[in-house]
Amino acid sequence: MIEFDLNGRKVSLDVDPQTPLLWAIRDDVGLTGTKFGCGIGMCGACTVHVGGRATRSCITPIADVAGTKITTIEGLHPEANHPVQAAWRNLRVPQCGYCQSGQIMQAAALLQDIPDPSDEDIDAVMTGNLCRCMTYTRIRQAVRDAATAMAGGQTNG
Ligand code: FES
Ligand code: FES
Repeated sequence: MIEFDLNGRKVSLDVDPQTPLLWAIRDDVGLTGTKFGCGIGMCGACTVHVGGRATRSCITPIADVAGTKITTIEGLHPEANHPVQAAWRNLRVPQCGYCQSGQIMQAAALLQDIPDPSDEDIDAVMTGNLCRCMTYTRIRQAVRDAATAMAGGQTNG
C-alpha cells in the first residue's frame, strides 16, 4: 500500500510500486487533468508538483512519492483561480489545451522559485514544456502577468 497526500486528501493505493504516478493519478484516483504526452519525460504534459517541485509524473514511479504532498492541476487552487490560471484565462493562452495543465503547473512552480522572472528565466524553465499549438508567446506573457499579479500589481488582462 502506497500512501501520499493528493490535493490535500490522503490517498492509499494498492498498486505495483513501479506504476508511473501519472497513471495512478489518472486511472486509480480518476483525476484526468494531468495529461499523457510522451511518457519519457520530454514534453511536460504530465507535470504535477511533488513536495512543491515541478515533476514529470510519467517517469516517476509511485514508490518514489510515498509520504509526499502532491498537487495536480485540480488542486492548484480551490476555485481554479491561482494567479497563473487567472493570467492564462485573461490572455486566452490555450489553443487545443492538451499541454496546458502541464504548462500551468510548471509556471506555478517557476513563480514559487523566481517571483520576478526575466524572459530568459521563463524560457529556461518553460523550455521543457512543449506545445504543438505554439502558444509560447502567450505563455511567456501570462507568466509575466501572473508574476505581476502575485506581487500585487496590475496586469494586461
Ligand atoms: S508525458 Fe510526461 S513528460 Fe511527456
Ligand atoms: S495548446 Fe495545443 S498543444 Fe499546447
